[in-house]
Amino acid sequence: MQAAYLRALNDFDEWRVAARGLLRAGCSPEDVVWHEPGADSGLFGSSQALPEGERPVKAVPPSFIAMAQTAVNHADPERFSLLYRLLWRLQADRNALDVASDPDVVRLTRMASAVRRDSHKMKAFVRFKAIVDDSGLERFAAWFEPDHYTLEITAPFFARRFDGMIWAIVTPYRSAYWDGESLAFGDGGSKSDVPEDDAVEDDWKTYFSAIFNPARLKVAMMKSEMPVKYWRNLPEAELIAPLVRGAREAEQQMIERIASQPPSRHLKQQARAPHADEAMGEVSTLAEARAAVQACQRCPLYEHATQAVFGEGPERAEVMFVGEQPGDQEDLSGQPFVGPAGKVLDAAIEKVGIDRSRVYVTNAVKHFKFEPRGKRRIHQSPDGGEIQACKFWLDREIALVKPRVIVALGATAARSILGKAATISKLRGVPINLPDGTVLFVTNHPAYLLRIPDRQKQEIESVKFEADLMLVREAIERPALRNSH
Ligand code: URA
Repeated sequence: MQAAYLRALNDFDEWRVAARGLLRAGCSPEDVVWHEPGADSGLFGSSQALPEGERPVKAVPPSFIAMAQTAVNHADPERFSLLYRLLWRLQADRNALDVASDPDVVRLTRMASAVRRDSHKMKAFVRFKAIVDDSGLERFAAWFEPDHYTLEITAPFFARRFDGMIWAIVTPYRSAYWDGESLAFGDGGSKSDVPEDDAVEDDWKTYFSAIFNPARLKVAMMKSEMPVKYWRNLPEAELIAPLVRGAREAEQQMIERIASQPPSRHLKQQARAPHADEAMGEVSTLAEARAAVQACQRCPLYEHATQAVFGEGPERAEVMFVGEQPGDQEDLSGQPFVGPAGKVLDAAIEKVGIDRSRVYVTNAVKHFKFEPRGKRRIHQSPDGGEIQACKFWLDREIALVKPRVIVALGATAARSILGKAATISKLRGVPINLPDGTVLFVTNHPAYLLRIPDRQKQEIESVKFEADLMLVREAIERPALRNSH
């Protein structure tokens, strides 16, 4: 049995050097026991020399490196042996990772997804507290308890976002420091390292009271967007109980008032009552929405997708194309319509002369839904619940981009925008005026054209698709009736 001692919990390069040495020595995965620091009392930093060997080590696919760099931050003590087993297997079969249903591949994929989710949660739930020293210098500190070792991969986000501040994020296993110029990491700490109160906190509390909606809280808890464990770090958490109490009283008063009103008024009141989603409207720019969607757990699709794929295009595009959901390539690249359907769409847009700089492209559902089958991930259409859950994000994009014209590509997009099942053949070719004044066109999804086996029928459908896009071009070239740009 060969022991491999690591000094760091999540240093990919350290693991890689050790793993390559073991490979060169021909140590099979069953013969290696990986020790992470702290796991074996008294062995921290222990360094038993690795065996020497000259066996050649083959290069592995970049996709393995990318996944391993993420998965190494998982808290599972088995992560290093799983990575070594896969590395070993890749020496014999470079395509070993392509079998999506392989238990090792499934485990690696899940670990990488869990790490990404944990990192997104840190981005969403870290709250800084201000510390003003005697000279008046203001610094910020936050305490956070991640589920995995995700501080190192997440701290650069805070450095970019709060580059003008001096801040520290303290977690139980490690701390990050930003001095306004460079990022450094040190030992972990405890909650008491971070002050309890400050002025910034008051701002948060005012903000939180203003946006507070008990329905949002319930929905957020159900979907574990705001798991109770994170409340401990949120200054606004102490407001939750009084706000819930206050909201209940207000709700009771409203029920009493409504019960004594005629039924028609009652219905109107209900229609105007804020939906839980409205209270989630904290995002006020596309950049914020793009970052926030990565933490979305509004439906289960986030569990298996690599990432959420948000829309792309100018912030004030005049036309918004809405597809169904990211496909396999979009899921991996993080960009909408970069695969085969995207190529068909791009070609049609160019052919009818729509100016690409006026186009924003997105999807009704932001996570890839698929079924693993052998080496492939087979596309699955999102169901009504998933479409409805993700409408929150599409609504945000529409509200922020304010397109004059929306093009629903296929039934899923039409269903999302119209709020009911739609038949393309009945709706295409006719502009539909939406309540907010936007004009909607409905047409086929470009992937539909790719699936038509008969060449002649494919040709006919392509011409019809382009004819629909000609109407879109005419609509955006007409002078705007409302002044949204
Ligand atoms: N199909 C879609 O609907 N959207 C994409 O982004 C890619 C394929």
